[in-house]
Amino acid sequence: MQIALIGADGQLGSDLLERLVERHEVRAWTYPDVDITRPQELDSRCRELQPDLLINTAAYNLVDGAEEDPAAAFSLNAFAVRDLAFICRDTDTILMHFSSDYVFDGTQRAPYSEEDSPSPLSVYGVSKLAGEYFVRSILSRYFLIRTCGLYGTAGCWGKGYNFVDTMVRRAREKQPVQVVNDQYVTPTSTLELAHRLSDLIEVGRFGLFHMTNAGQCSWYEFAAEIFRILSMEPDLRGVDSAAYGARAKRPVFSVLENRHADRIGLPGFSPWAIALKDYLIRKGYLK
Ligand SMILES: NC(=O)c1ccc[n+]([C@@H]2O[C@H](COP(=O)([O-])OP(=O)(O)OC[C@H]3O[C@@H](n4cnc5c(N)ncnc54)[C@H](OP(=O)(O)O)[C@@H]3O)[C@@H](O)[C@H]2O)c1
Repeated sequence: MQIALIGADGQLGSDLLERLVERHEVRAWTYPDVDITRPQELDSRCRELQPDLLINTAAYNLVDGAEEDPAAAFSLNAFAVRDLAFICRDTDTILMHFSSDYVFDGTQRAPYSEEDSPSPLSVYGVSKLAGEYFVRSILSRYFLIRTCGLYGTAGCWGKGYNFVDTMVRRAREKQPVQVVNDQYVTPTSTLELAHRLSDLIEVGRFGLFHMTNAGQCSWYEFAAEIFRILSMEPDLRGVDSAAYGARAKRPVFSVLENRHADRIGLPGFSPWAIALKDYLIRKGYLK
C-alpha cells in the first residue's frame, strides 16, 4: 500500500513510520514542509503521489492554550481536517485521523465506548470533535481513532517531551512534583498504538475506534508508577483539579473502552503499567 504520513516526526507519527515501513511504501511528510493549513499544496501532493491511505497525526494539542487561542485550535483540529477530508474524497484516498478522550465530559464514570455521546468541556475538546464530524460527514472510507494520554520517544508537539519525561526531569532536578489526583485516564504508548493501527490497516475495517492501553489511573497514580519503577523518591504531591487551577476544564474520567477494536478481533493492548515500563527501558531511564 502507498501511504502518506503527515506529522511523521511527532510522537505517534515517528512510531507509526517505523512500523509501517516494514509492510508499506510510506512517504514521511513533516512540518513545516507539509502544513495541513495549506490545503492547495496538500491537494497537489496527493494528486502527484496518489496514496491509498493518508494518515494525519498533526494537531493542535495545547489543551490550555486552546482556551486563549481558539482560532489556532480550530484551524488545525477542525478546518484543516475538513480540507483533508475533501482532498481524500476528491482523490479517492482513505483517511486515518486521530481524536481524543477529551470529547467526553467524564460524568459517566465508566469507560466510554464508541456508542457513547460526546460532550466536550474545553475548546480543545470541541475542536477535536468538530474534526471528527467533518471526517464522518464527508467520507465513507476512514479510520477515526480516539486515543488518550499519549507518550512516545519522539516527545510531544512543540515541546520535545511528554508527561513521563517531565516527571523524570523534575525528579532529577529535585523539584517538588504536583500532579492532579482526581482525573482518570489511560496512559497510552505510541509504540503499542502504532502496532495496533498497523493491524487495523491490514484488517481494513473502517469507522470510529477507541484505542488505548488497558486499565486506568489518575495522573497522580501514573506519576507514582513512573517513580516506583525507577526507584525514585521525589516530593510527589497529589492535588485536586480545583487547586491545580489549569485554564481548561478537563473530564474527571475519560477512560475509553476499545469496543470496536475488540469486536473486529484486533489483538488487545497491554496494561498501561507494562507499556510504561517498556517505554522507560527504551528511553534509557531504566537499565
Ligand atoms: N498527546 C496526547 O496525549 C493525545 C491524546 C489524545 C489524542 N491525541 C491525538 O493524537 C494525534 C497524535 O498526537 P501526538 O501526541 O503524536 O502529536 P505530536 O507529537 O504533537 O505530533 C504532531 C506532529 O504534527 C506536526 N505538525 C504541527 N503542526 C502542523 C501543521 N500545521 N501541518 C502539518 N504538521 C504539523 C508536528 O510538527 P512539529 O513538532 O514540528 O510542530 C508533529 O510532528 C493528534 O491528533 C492528537 O490530537 C493526542
